[in-house]
Amino acid sequence: MDSGVRVYLGKSQERKIFWQPGKEKNPHFLVVGTSGSGKTESLKSIVHELRAQGVPSLIVDFHNEYSDIAEYRINLRELTINPLEVAAGRRPQDVIYEVASIVKKIFGLGDRQESMLRSAIKDCYTDQGIDILKEAEHDLAAPPFMKIREQLEKGETATNRGIREALISRIEPLFEVDIFFKENTAIPFEEIVRKTTTIELKDFPTEDVKAAIAEFFLNKLIYYLYKSGKADRLRVYCVVDEAHRLLYENSPLDRLLREARKYGTGIILSSQRPSDFSETVLANAGGILSLQCNLEKDAKFIGKQLSIEPADILHLTEPGLGFVKLSSGAETSKVKIDPLEGRLTEEERQQMEKAKKKITDLPSPPVPEGADQRRPPEKKRNKLATTVLIKGLFSLAYGLFLAVVVGWLNIGQAAEEPVFLFLAGIGAVFLIFSLAELLAYYRIRKRPTRRTGIRKIAALQVPFLLLLAGLTPLFIVLLVIGLVLTVLVVIFSRTPRDVTKKEKAGR
Ligand SMILES: Nc1ncnc2c1ncn2[C@@H]1O[C@H](COP(=O)(O)OP(=O)(O)OP(=O)(O)O)[C@@H](O)[C@H]1O
Ligand SMILES: [Mg+2]
Repeated sequence: MDSGVRVYLGKSQERKIFWQPGKEKNPHFLVVGTSGSGKTESLKSIVHELRAQGVPSLIVDFHNEYSDIAEYRINLRELTINPLEVAAGRRPQDVIYEVASIVKKIFGLGDRQESMLRSAIKDCYTDQGIDILKEAEHDLAAPPFMKIREQLEKGETATNRGIREALISRIEPLFEVDIFFKENTAIPFEEIVRKTTTIELKDFPTEDVKAAIAEFFLNKLIYYLYKSGKADRLRVYCVVDEAHRLLYENSPLDRLLREARKYGTGIILSSQRPSDFSETVLANAGGILSLQCNLEKDAKFIGKQLSIEPADILHLTEPGLGFVKLSSGAETSKVKIDPLEGRLTEEERQQMEKAKKKITDLPSPPVPEGADQRRPPEKKRNKLATTVLIKGLFSLAYGLFLAVVVGWLNIGQAAEEPVFLFLAGIGAVFLIFSLAELLAYYRIRKRPTRRTGIRKIAALQVPFLLLLAGLTPLFIVLLVIGLVLTVLVVIFSRTPRDVTKKEKAGR
């Protein structure tokens, strides 16, 4: 595969070092180095050189760091992906195993949970009358990924309740992501493999969700490559910074490393720890760049691969300074990677400045008829957050009123001391409730995928409110306010699945 591409990496003393993917045993390139050693900058420089020579890159961008060098940015709103869709020539059964194994690996499921997940996915297909053993003649529309949750709920029996609940709560964050509400995958691969494109993942809620989306995306890429056929010309690169999240045996990335070359696709990966790459992956890479590794065992590991002393890697001082080994060359060279800034023409620099200011979005792919347009869970979360905040402030005011005004000021002065002591005690309990509610508010806002426990807190308050009701008319007024707020909290804290059910019933 000699495509004539020649990537300038940097200087080794006064000698310029180039990487020519077509001359190596494969076009893949790996970069390792501690945090701050210059991995992202090196990857950007390489992507820039490739782009200048007509080879675009698809970048899986966990931190939205590559926006400035991309021609297309795919962000949260535009990307819709349905991992259950079946590509032509495949059987739903294969997809079931693939999806379950990705989810298992990322969310750390046990074998029984994985098997339960598989059977829920299977039910999603059979419910739609799809034969899971039959090869799809053309790309097969599939139930939206969200359906898995419904299926999991349906199959509940007393014996499997524990496993099921643990499974649902572990993978719950996946069901809250907008992109999995849709039935179709709307990633225009034909278009994005022609331009340098970043898949921006920063705004997704948790690290696990980001990793799962990245894997589902890479999986789709694999089947797109199969469909578009073999190529002996380098067509596109797939770039994954911080690839350790996605590298394990038989993961989509692992498969790409093994197979992508035949389809004219090169892979560029970076990771902080060289041991994230298996020895096989390292031994088969066309090029390896090691920047500084500040752990002795990492330096030893990579030193062995590059045939240099570990101390040389430990003592690299500047970002961008490292050692590069190419499969075509006998020797490892010390190199200072030229940063991106120095490679840009004035025009390119201006373009990058513009890209920073204005998001050059991909034209949104058309939404097919009948596609699911459910209300995104964020709106519901915002309402819940507001109600919980009001409820928290109510509990705080109520608690302070009881503990300080009614209780504390009267203790020791009034004849009915035990009653006031009792009220001060209830006030203190409401102050604790208010703390729990304000914490729940923080979680809903900042950690949307964590459980808040807000329904339990609301339920616990009811007996305390009722306990006070008999005392005076004032407490009855407060009781009514408290109960109304509690009911609102319970209504808004229902899960998205409940909303789905209700909407379905209303249709
Ligand atoms: N080749 C280089 N020449 C000069 N400065 C560089 C070079 N590479 C990186 N730097 C500078 O070093 C800093 C860290 O670089 P970079 O973000 O690429 O590190 P990293 O290895 O990706 O770190 P992390 O693992 O935390 O993502 C940046 O401020 C960058 O500008
Ligand atoms: Mg980085």
